[in-house]
Amino acid sequence: MTPDLLDQGARRVEARMAALAAGKGNTESGGRAAGFSRLVTSSDVDVTHGRILYLEDVSVSFDGFKAINKLSLDIAPGELRCIIGPNGAGKTTMMDIITGKTRPDEGTVYFGSTINLLRHTEPEIAQLGIGRKFQKPTVFEQLSVFENLELALSMHKDVRSSLFYRLDSAQSDQLADVLHTIHLADSVGVQAGNLSHGQKQWLEIGMLLMQKPKLLLLDEPVAGMTDDETERTAELFLSLKGKHSLMVVEHDMSFIRTISDIVTVLCDGSVLAQGTLDQVQADERVIEVYLGR
Ligand SMILES: Nc1ncnc2c1ncn2[C@@H]1O[C@H](COP(=O)(O)OP(=O)(O)OP(=O)(O)O)[C@@H](O)[C@H]1O
Ligand SMILES: [Mg+2]
Repeated sequence: MTPDLLDQGARRVEARMAALAAGKGNTESGGRAAGFSRLVTSSDVDVTHGRILYLEDVSVSFDGFKAINKLSLDIAPGELRCIIGPNGAGKTTMMDIITGKTRPDEGTVYFGSTINLLRHTEPEIAQLGIGRKFQKPTVFEQLSVFENLELALSMHKDVRSSLFYRLDSAQSDQLADVLHTIHLADSVGVQAGNLSHGQKQWLEIGMLLMQKPKLLLLDEPVAGMTDDETERTAELFLSLKGKHSLMVVEHDMSFIRTISDIVTVLCDGSVLAQGTLDQVQADERVIEVYLGR
């Protein structure tokens, strides 16, 4: 990418940021209610049955150990589902199965009501609109915030078109919106390596958002964050709810309390309990697995 192209892109983004600041664009999150007002609409994923993700009786064993054991779970479009559970419960393995990294021994995994995810490879599943965030931030440290987001757009293309990649105006608008959403509008030119841990996590979420995922899987997104960063991440997730479907795995219960509607408790590879955080925390079986380890 040449400096002048970068300049042009940055100028378009700046113009969009100014419009946003003047109230002409989308506004920041209005919290829970506003989050639900823009429901997911997708032309490719058939959500007419009210489910964007559907797992039934999924099992996988590693060397005879059942890490996932007849797991059944579904998620509605626009929902923000929290997944909790003790270490080794199978939370990350479940995400590995959804994203095609691990193949289950048996069971059904559908994206919407027509896409059988078990028939697709990991890259195909990403292309279908399932974005995944691992615990460790994986941004390009040498590149600026802007360049990282721009690169996320071109990542699905071949090397030649990546080299000559140029944002069109809709993409510049999208980039400005994402910068705003991830609280990095003031750091657009900052080298990613100089961001705080929390900011790197937001940037990586921004890179996923640039690819317009329909479903986002986030594994321990606030691990290692300061209290302030955790609070801002909660705001960010609440602003994504409704526009995207999210599955969030976390051990931080105060974070879960802030963002959750329905919480699913995994234990020994299957669902132990499901309900509001208060409901599952009052469940004797849940208390036992947390206290027992
Ligand atoms: N590739 C693998 N090979 C062998 N065992 C594995 C593999 N992946 C996961 N496991 C085992 O499966 C179980 C579930 O692991 P998983 O990482 O999914 O748990 P988790 O709920 O994400 O735990 P944590 O909260 O500690 O991240 C663990 O006992 C783990 O050791
Ligand atoms: Mg894990």
